[in-house]
Amino acid sequence: MENGIYDRLKRPLKDLRISVTDQCNFRCTYCMPKEIFDGDYPFLEKTELLSFDEIVTIAERFISLGVTKLRITGGEPLMRKNLPELIGRLNQLHGLKDLALTTNGVLLPRVAHDLKKAGMERVTVSLDSLDSELFGRINGRGLGIDPVLEGMKAAHEAGLKVKVNMMVRKGVNDQEILPMAAYFKKTPYILRFIEFMDVGTTNGWNMKEVVTKEEILKAIQTELPLLPAAENYYGEVASRYQYADGENEIGIISSISDSFCSSCTRARLSADGKVFTCLFASKGMDFKTPLREGATKDDLDNMITNLWKNRGDRYSDERRDGAGKKEKIEMSYIGG
Ligand code: GTP
Ligand code: 5AD
Ligand code: SF4
Ligand code: SF4
Repeated sequence: MENGIYDRLKRPLKDLRISVTDQCNFRCTYCMPKEIFDGDYPFLEKTELLSFDEIVTIAERFISLGVTKLRITGGEPLMRKNLPELIGRLNQLHGLKDLALTTNGVLLPRVAHDLKKAGMERVTVSLDSLDSELFGRINGRGLGIDPVLEGMKAAHEAGLKVKVNMMVRKGVNDQEILPMAAYFKKTPYILRFIEFMDVGTTNGWNMKEVVTKEEILKAIQTELPLLPAAENYYGEVASRYQYADGENEIGIISSISDSFCSSCTRARLSADGKVFTCLFASKGMDFKTPLREGATKDDLDNMITNLWKNRGDRYSDERRDGAGKKEKIEMSYIGG
């Protein structure tokens, strides 16, 4: 019998995104602006973080209820000590089909090999520009592109599949769309463009700064013709396009201009053990306290089932239809 649970909009629970730390070695202007995420920012204390045992226990319950994909996020997940150990343990869970990681890439040369050995198949590396000077300004640390490209190379050489995420913000890096497309077309990596999203409350989001999927396509198509391609799996976030000459493909994540809530199968676990049913949620359900007070597997299963069955989140659709809200969690806390 097919196991699985469905929410109020008949969407199955299929993915769990697990944030393993809220810390990051970058200060991207659209995610952790350094004026706010400074020495005084109340990052989570070590004791507040879920232990590996706790993460594995929670992941196992989600998988027993139908989740087949886990994605490890942060902050910057590679800043969590001994991460390959956690990957190895998650990889053992029966029923898991896809285990991936989203990273800024700079620590990959150190750990790519261990991640692969532990059972990781693929990673997604963020890179918003090929211009080192501009990239340094965006990442808030003045860091050029070479360490990120080296990270991708290390992952590839370790046998990991690599995707690249480019967040596009008008007036900041939209002139980089075509150069990035042309560069990554010739690599083994798949490039995905992400529309600038109104996550959190600190990045000063404004609709005028969004470059839409159509505009991104237009910028590329003038030089490099593209053809739409079918989705790889139900609820895939990125719309796929194949280059007409057959060399490589791209993806576009259009949460603003063409939202995809109707097929959203994702739950998110924060580093301190709260489960959120939407990237734009303001509140999560605390799993850490019950777990530390001795909750059984059945207790956890009931919590997940009740949470998912009552889920009606469709934030990006609502924003498209004119509704907005003020209180939202930060992307660095929930990992995107
Ligand atoms: P694949 O597993 O390779 O298909 O990647 P993915 O798209 O699941 O993961 P990734 O971490 O690379 O996410 C890419 C971008 O899509 C990030 O900016 C995420 O924040 C965004 N994203 C992922 N899921 C959602 C979602 O449910 N809603 C919204 N609005 N954005 C999402
Ligand atoms: N809008 C769009 N993408 C964002 N990311 C972080 N913040 C935003 C935002 N406000 C991207 C990162 C990373 C992915 C997980 O999310 O660049 O690639
Ligand atoms: Fe760090 Fe990624 Fe946020 Fe940049 S986008 S600050 S790399 S978590
Ligand atoms: Fe899912 Fe919320 Fe994103 Fe819509 S806005 S796709 S419901 S996470």
